[in-house]
Amino acid sequence: MESVGYSLCRIWLFFLLFWLVQGRQMAPPGFVESTCRSRIFWMKLNKHLLQGKFFQLEINDPYAGPILLDEKLASRCGYVLSEDVWGNPVFRASVLGCHVTNEADELFSLTVNIKVSSFSSMRAAVTYTYPMYCSYSSWASREIVCEENYMEVSVKTDVPAVSNDYTVAWMSVLPETQNVAYQLWQLMFVSPSGRKRITVSDAGKLGYSFNNTLSRVYLRAPYHSNESDVSLVSGVNMNMVTSTSMYRQRWLLLLIDTTVSCPVDGTSFTDTALTWTVPSVIPTLVVQESTFMSKNILMGVDGQVIVNPEEKNYLLEHNETHIGITIPIGAEGGQLKSSISGGVYGVTYSIDLFLEHTWTVADWQTTKYTVIRSITTPFMPQIPTVTNNTLPEERLFNIAFGHFLPDVSLVAIAIGNVPFTLREAQHHGFRIYETPISNRMKEFILEVSFDDPYVLKEYVNRNETKYTLLVNYTLSVGPEMTLWYHSAEVECVIADIELPEAVGYCDEENLYLAIPTFGLHQYWNLYLGNKLLNRLIVLTNGYLAATNSTHLILQIPLFATGVIYEDVSFQKIKARFDVALRKVRTMETLQMFSVSCNFNSSAFIICHPDGTISVSAQMKTVPAIDMSKTKLRDSSCKPREYNEGHAFFKFHITTCGTSARFEGDYIVYENEISYEKETLPGQSVPTITRDPDYRLTVSCYYRAKETLVLGAFTSDPSTSPHFGSGTMVARSNTVAYRRTRQALNVISRVSKDDSFVEFYEPNVAILKRPVEPVFLEVELKDENPDAELYLENCWVTGSLDFNSTPRWNITVDGCEIKGSVYIAEVCPVAVGPRVRHPSHFKRLAVRTLAHQLEQMYVHCLVTVCSPTSILPAGPCRGQCSSSKERKAFPGHRAANLQGYVLAGPVWIVDPELR
Ligand SMILES: *[C@@H]1O[C@H](CO)[C@@H](O)[C@H](O)[C@H]1NC(C)=O
Ligand SMILES: *[C@@H]1O[C@H](CO)[C@@H](O)[C@H](O)[C@H]1NC(C)=O
Ligand SMILES: *[C@@H]1O[C@H](CO)[C@@H](O)[C@H](O)[C@H]1NC(C)=O
Ligand SMILES: *[C@@H]1O[C@H](CO)[C@@H](O)[C@H](O)[C@H]1NC(C)=O
Ligand SMILES: *[C@@H]1O[C@H](CO)[C@@H](O)[C@H](O)[C@H]1NC(C)=O
Ligand SMILES: *[C@@H]1O[C@H](CO)[C@@H](O)[C@H](O)[C@H]1NC(C)=O
Ligand SMILES: *[C@@H]1O[C@H](CO)[C@@H](O)[C@H](O)[C@H]1NC(C)=O
Repeated sequence: MESVGYSLCRIWLFFLLFWLVQGRQMAPPGFVESTCRSRIFWMKLNKHLLQGKFFQLEINDPYAGPILLDEKLASRCGYVLSEDVWGNPVFRASVLGCHVTNEADELFSLTVNIKVSSFSSMRAAVTYTYPMYCSYSSWASREIVCEENYMEVSVKTDVPAVSNDYTVAWMSVLPETQNVAYQLWQLMFVSPSGRKRITVSDAGKLGYSFNNTLSRVYLRAPYHSNESDVSLVSGVNMNMVTSTSMYRQRWLLLLIDTTVSCPVDGTSFTDTALTWTVPSVIPTLVVQESTFMSKNILMGVDGQVIVNPEEKNYLLEHNETHIGITIPIGAEGGQLKSSISGGVYGVTYSIDLFLEHTWTVADWQTTKYTVIRSITTPFMPQIPTVTNNTLPEERLFNIAFGHFLPDVSLVAIAIGNVPFTLREAQHHGFRIYETPISNRMKEFILEVSFDDPYVLKEYVNRNETKYTLLVNYTLSVGPEMTLWYHSAEVECVIADIELPEAVGYCDEENLYLAIPTFGLHQYWNLYLGNKLLNRLIVLTNGYLAATNSTHLILQIPLFATGVIYEDVSFQKIKARFDVALRKVRTMETLQMFSVSCNFNSSAFIICHPDGTISVSAQMKTVPAIDMSKTKLRDSSCKPREYNEGHAFFKFHITTCGTSARFEGDYIVYENEISYEKETLPGQSVPTITRDPDYRLTVSCYYRAKETLVLGAFTSDPSTSPHFGSGTMVARSNTVAYRRTRQALNVISRVSKDDSFVEFYEPNVAILKRPVEPVFLEVELKDENPDAELYLENCWVTGSLDFNSTPRWNITVDGCEIKGSVYIAEVCPVAVGPRVRHPSHFKRLAVRTLAHQLEQMYVHCLVTVCSPTSILPAGPCRGQCSSSKERKAFPGHRAANLQGYVLAGPVWIVDPELR
C-alpha cells in the first residue's frame, strides 16, 4: 500500500499555513480519518461525533477557494460521497480528480472543508479544514477505476513500441483524425447511435472530464451517458464508453484509446451468502485476447486489502471467464442491520468491497482495473423465536425472545394486555434482561411468577391449573428505531390443586359430612343429585349446615330427603348420604362424598323409591298386644319380624290392600296396621277380651309428577333417589280415641298468599323471604254450623316445642298485640267454595321486619264457643271484648272446648344467600 510521501515537516508547514491564513479550526480528534488506498483519497467521518448535526463538504481549490460538493460535481470530478456500512460518512476522490494538486504524477493533495452545524440551513456552521495527501508512482500503463458514480480511465502517453499489427480496431478512426484541429484534443465516441467527435469542453458539458497530466491522459465518464452502451460480458452487464482521444500538432498525430467499461451488476444472493462476479476478460478492454495474462487479483473490504480472504471466510475465486467474491452473510467486515418491511421483521447485510485486477496484453503492457462496490442484500425476513424455559417447580415463567442484533432494543412490554414501560415492569416485579447468544446476537429474557395477578389462571382437569402468560413486546428496530410489536402466549399446566376429601360420621339420628371449604364455589360446587346443594336445599330438606374456618359440616337427619336406605330391616337401617363434588363450570363430577352408617331405630316408616314401604311400628298399648297378630289391611300381610313392642312390615304399594289417593301434588299410599281382636268362633256374642283395639295408619307421600314422569317406580335408588315421605298416625278406639274426641278437631294450614285459595302441602317445606308475611288459616272441623272458633293465644317460636323460648306473643286473649317483633293481622273470612261456615275459620297474616329466626312456628291455643253447649253462647262473642266478658263470667270458660294448633316450620330464606 502506498502511503504519504511528504516529509512530516512539509505537511506541518502546509497545515500551519492553512490554519493561519484561513483562520479555520482543526477537526476534533477521532472525527476524521483518512488514508490513501492505491490512487484514491479515502476519508471517513465519525458518525457519533455528528449525532444530531448537519454537515457539508467543500472542496478547497488552492486558487478558486471552496466549492460545495454536490452530486453532479462528484461524478464529473471523481468524488464519491456515501456512507460505510456502519453509517459513517465516507468521501473518496481520485487523485486525477478536479482540484487535486498534482506534482509530477507522484504527489497529490486535496483539501476538504468539513462544515458542521446544528441547523439544516448550516447556520453558524463550524468549518474544519482537512488536507489529504497521496503519493502514488506505480502507475500502470492504463488504469481503470469503476467507482459508484463514475468510470475513469487514465493512460500513459508514452509512445508505444512499434508494432506490426495493423488490425487494431481503433485504427479505423484514422480518417476522422484528418479534421482534428491543430493543438486541440478531441474525443471520438463510438456508440450504437454512431460516431460523435467533440471538443474537450463540449465533452465537459456532457458530464465527461478529460485532461492530461504530465505523463497521462484521462477520461472520466458518468454511468449511462448517451454515448455509452450496455453489453453482457460473461453474464455481467457492463456499461461501456468506447472512445478515442486525439491530438494533432503538425507532424504529430496522437490517438489514444480511452475506452472504459465497468460492471453495473453481477451480485447474487442466497440465504447464506452474497456473490459478486466480475468478468475476467472484458473484450473491449482486451484487444488481443490471445496475449491476455492475468497478473494479480486483489480483494478488499472497507478500503483495506484482504491478503488472506479465507481467514475471514471470504472466498475469492477466478477462472478464465469470471472473478467471484463470495461473502457469507454476517461475515466480519460487513454489517447486519435490522429493519421492518411490510410489518415484518428482518435483516439486511451490507459490505463495502473492492476488486483490483491487473493484467497484461502485448500492446498495452499493464492494465490495473479497480472496481469499488458497496453491496447490500435484499431484506431477509426473520421470524423471532419465543423460547419457553418455564420452570414449573419454581412457578416461574421464563421466556426468551430472540435472536436480535444489537440494533434492536426492547422499549415496552404488555403483560396480559396491560402495558408497562420497562421501568414499570421492573417495579412491578417482572424480571426483564438481555443476554448475549453469540458475539453478535442477543435475546430478551422475561421472568414472571405464576402467581402474578396479570397471569391468567384457569382451573382445568381434576386438580390442575393452567397458567397463561400473554406478552406483547414493543421493540425499537434498527438505526431508524422503527417500533415493532410481537406477541406471544405461553402456558403451563401444573397439578397444584388438591381435591378435598370429606370425612363422614354419624350419631344416633344423623349422618354428618365434614367437607373442606377450600375452593368451594371457586373451583367446584356440591351437588345433591342434579341439584346444587345450596342453602335453600339444605333448609328444604331439613339438613343443618355449619362452617368453621376450614370445613363445612353437614348434618343430615336419618329420615331427611336425600338419604338412601341401603338396607332396611327390623329395627335396623343402613343409610347412606352422597354429595357430589362437581366442577363449577362444566359440572363434571370430580368426587363423590359418601357417609354410610347403621342405625338402630325402633319406629320408622320408609317409603322406598321402588314403591316398597318398610314400617317398623311401635305399639305401646296397655295391656300389651300380641304383635304376631298385627296385620295390614290384607290380613294375609303379617309382620316379617316382631318383638313385644314392635312389628316390622315390608310391602309394596301394589299389595296388602294399599290404597292410593291424590292429595295436591302427591299420591298418598295408605295402609293400616291393625290388631285383630280374638273372637271365639261360632258364638254370636262377642267375647270381651282385654286386647285393646289398635289401628296405625301408615301413609307414603310420593310426588305425583315424578312418579308419573318415571312411569314406574324404579328399584335403583342411586339413579332416582326420590324417596317418598311417610307418616304414621295412631288411632285408638279406647282411651286415646276418646281423649282425642274431647279435644277439638282443628287444623292449621299455611296459605301461599292472602287469597287463602292455595295452600302448602303437608310435608312440604315452606320457604319465605324475610319480608313476606306468613298466612295462617285455622279451621274447625266436624262441628255444628253454629259453633265459632277463636284464636285465644298465638305466639311465634323457633321450635315446635310448646314450651320453647324465646317466644313472641302475637295474640293474647284473642286480641292482636301491637308493638311486638312479630305482628298478627286478622284477615276476614267470607263464604266461598272452601268455606261453608265462616265462623269455623280464622285467618292471620303474621309479619315482622326483624326476623330473628331461620325457621319459625306459629302456635295457637284456640277455643270454640258453641250455642248448643249446655251453656249460653252469648258471652263468648267478639274477640277482644270477649275476654273481659269472660272475666266477668269466669264459669263459662270451662264449658268451651279448647284446642291447640301448630303451623310450621316456615323457613325464612334470604334468596341472596346460597
Ligand atoms: C486540465 O488540467 C489543467 C491543469 O491541472 C487545468 O488547468 C485545466 O483547467 C484542466 N482542464 C479541464 C477541462 O479540466
Ligand atoms: C468460471 O466460474 C463461473 C462462476 O463461478 C462459472 O459460471 C463458469 O462456468 C466458470 N468457467 C469455467 C471455464 O470454468
Ligand atoms: C400488541 O400491541 C400493539 C400496540 O399496542 C397492538 O397494536 C397489537 O395489536 C398488540 N398485539 C396483540 C396480539 O395484542
Ligand atoms: C412451556 O414449558 C412448560 C414447562 O416445561 C410446559 O409445561 C408447557 O407445556 C410449555 N409449553 C407452552 C406452549 O407454553
Ligand atoms: C392430580 O390428579 C392425578 C390423577 O388425576 C393424581 O395422580 C395426582 O397425584 C393429583 N395431584 C395432586 C397434587 O393432587
Ligand atoms: C373444622 O371442623 C372440622 C370437622 O369437624 C375439623 O376437622 C377441623 O379441625 C375444624 N377446623 C377448625 C379450624 O376448627
Ligand atoms: C305471652 O302470653 C302469655 C299468656 O298470656 C303470658 O303468660 C306471657 O307472659 C306473654 N309473654 C310475653 C313476652 O308477653
